[in-house]
Amino acid sequence: MLDDAIKTKLRDPTYLDLHLAAVRSLNRVGPTSWYDAHFLRRYEVARDYLAVVNPGALATFERGFDPLKPPPGFDVSVLQNLFDDDTCAQIKAISRSIKAGHQDLSLKSQWEREYFGRQVVWDHPYFLELQRDLLGVASEAAGCTLRTGYNFLSLYGSGGLCDPHMDEPMSMFTLDYCIEQSDEWPIHFSQVVDWPTVETFRQFDPVAVKDDPALGFRAFILQPNQALLFNGSSQWHYRNNIPTGGFCDLLFFHYYPAGCDDLVEPKRWASHFTSIPELGALCDLFERERRPGEG
Ligand SMILES: [Fe+2]
Repeated sequence: MLDDAIKTKLRDPTYLDLHLAAVRSLNRVGPTSWYDAHFLRRYEVARDYLAVVNPGALATFERGFDPLKPPPGFDVSVLQNLFDDDTCAQIKAISRSIKAGHQDLSLKSQWEREYFGRQVVWDHPYFLELQRDLLGVASEAAGCTLRTGYNFLSLYGSGGLCDPHMDEPMSMFTLDYCIEQSDEWPIHFSQVVDWPTVETFRQFDPVAVKDDPALGFRAFILQPNQALLFNGSSQWHYRNNIPTGGFCDLLFFHYYPAGCDDLVEPKRWASHFTSIPELGALCDLFERERRPGEG
């Protein structure tokens, strides 16, 4: 349903034409294929839309995203003994207390339980503090200056699973920290690849992704107080089913390159690409789209 702000703009014939072109591009690209593909879907929608309404701006738009591509030579880093004993104990105490008493009945939490077999807490104040403290470590491992994004505690239980996917650039770099676990539970990373296109959405097959030798998947195993820094928006990654009856308590600290605040938010692309005013009508629709778990 359109809100009053858009209805007012639609009285302008130029805006109406752009709005209709944006709706057609959204329909042409279609739905997402995996849970964290909203950014890539919108990027593909914007490319489709610009090809119609301002084809001369397409190359400028695409090049504008270069800062969100991995630095040359980027590879996964393993970080040993990330925190001192007192910090480890504090993290574990918070995590266990949340596991014992957490009663989040929101739609988003239900979705996390159903799709990942995990309980999640976003941006706990103590973990936000740790995330800020780790900014230098994460930037060094990433090979570029970073900004802190969001973080979340991820308490995987029996039934824990994470199918192949790529993350959004808002979480371009993830520092994946192991608090404690019942068993070793490998995470698999592909080599760095180009962003998937709309063709990938249409043919998406998670089993085929796992089995594709060209993606060069490697398995990494975390032990408590170890972390991995990976580029989740340019590396496919997955975890198979957790061993029966097992658990794995992880912290995900997300970072993205400094200077990319507008780029990582599709609804802000019109503000970023000031030479492409046509993006305004499309970003108005991005602003109003809902995501899984948001009701
Ligand atoms: Fe991910």
